[in-house]
Amino acid sequence: MTSPAPIDDLPDYASLGLPTERDGLEQFDHLQAYRRLGPIYQLGFRGERHVVIAGMEANEAAWRNPDQWSYHDALVPFREIMGPTHVTQLDREPHRRKRRNLRNGFAMSAVVRHLPVIDEVLREAYARHLDQPVRLHDFFMTALTQANSRTVLHCGLDAVALAHFIVFEEEFISGTILGEARHAHYARPAFVAHREFVFGFLRELVSRRLAGQRCPDSFQEMIDDRRERGEPLEVEELVPEAYLLLMAGTGNTAKMLNCGLQHLLANPGWLGPLEEELAGYRIERLVGGMGAFPRLRATLMEMERMFPAAPVLSRVVEEPFEFHGHRLPRGTRVLHLQTLPHFLDEVYADPYRFDPSRWMDREYPKKAHGTFGGSTHICLGMNLVRLHTPVAVANLLRDHRVSLGGEPEILVNLNYGVPQAAHLTARWSRRDLTTGMAPPAPVAQS
Ligand code: HEM
Repeated sequence: MTSPAPIDDLPDYASLGLPTERDGLEQFDHLQAYRRLGPIYQLGFRGERHVVIAGMEANEAAWRNPDQWSYHDALVPFREIMGPTHVTQLDREPHRRKRRNLRNGFAMSAVVRHLPVIDEVLREAYARHLDQPVRLHDFFMTALTQANSRTVLHCGLDAVALAHFIVFEEEFISGTILGEARHAHYARPAFVAHREFVFGFLRELVSRRLAGQRCPDSFQEMIDDRRERGEPLEVEELVPEAYLLLMAGTGNTAKMLNCGLQHLLANPGWLGPLEEELAGYRIERLVGGMGAFPRLRATLMEMERMFPAAPVLSRVVEEPFEFHGHRLPRGTRVLHLQTLPHFLDEVYADPYRFDPSRWMDREYPKKAHGTFGGSTHICLGMNLVRLHTPVAVANLLRDHRVSLGGEPEILVNLNYGVPQAAHLTARWSRRDLTTGMAPPAPVAQS
């Protein structure tokens, strides 16, 4: 047996002459680097040496044993802003305990009962924005947060509170990838004000619940379950949990819908049959699962594949392990490109084409789908996303004719080359329900 090679011997991305940090973060070409260097190589990034791991074999190795990573060291900004009990940055037993405590809020069985209200909130939101230019990302963030405020965490959110929560979430998440520059970003008075509002709002809500107020929401189920199991209930631990229910991840869902709709609407050959399927959409039919809506399911899987909102995960090695003949010592900084297989043509034929039909009557290996990460830290909100997105797309397409307008901002976002359009403007008008036809949609203003 040969002993594993040290990571200093790893092939270096810099040797390839490909775009680097200096050309803009979004310009890295990891797909080519993977082809030329294999599933492990080194990369200078933000003044530090990182080991990049990629491909199906990397997903297998990264998800096999979650305890080999220190989330505590890799996800410091989450602890700084959300506090020391926040789930994302916990490891081992404290993380397993936290996920058990959150289960009653996020398991599919816990969230599916909210479908009728989610459906109603989305329908109302579309109706309020008929025949006017709408910024899709903002629209979805607002509508989904409103849905959460009437389902998983009952709370009255007026327009001012909603705006504080949305800006806080967007700026909090964008700060997590700034490295040391995040300190200045988070110290800005405007951010501090949003943060104080959000935490003050949730602290009051949690205190009322602990004082005996009951609401028929998922938060109540989490509290009751915790009481029954003799788990402590403390305000400072429950505040970030209430935040998770109300707000976390909505920006990611909005981003995926924004990009996904752009490609869907540009694809009439698929859109037509999908609209036919959705003419039969009723929320009662969705409660039983996606079986009655195979084209909708395929559309959403393709959106997840092409537009993963978090395409790269930052990791730090805790327990040394071996990958592809190299030993990764404790403390190694790793970039895990968990969604790179989405763009390998040996896995997904013609991977840069938005082609939902690839999902009809066909499944792909689990290790080839990295949109929500994997193993014990897999996205907590995945079930919520997989309820929000079908309801959002089905209601939009069943009841409206939609056109896109305006010049989108194009971002590539470390996404292996698929341009992601941010902040699209859309406009929808109501279909005539007797004929299924919509009056001609006016061209949207930019
Ligand atoms: C399309 C939308 C979303 C995408 C693509 C997404 C993606 C991800 C990814 C890639 C991870 C990292 C998983 C890992 O470390 O292996 C993650 C973790 C997480 N996500 Fe999401 N997410 C989305 C929406 C949401 C929503 C709606 C929530 C609401 C609760 C949420 C809450 C979380 C939390 C709390 C974690 C950390 C889980 C843990 O460390 O145990 N996400 N997400």
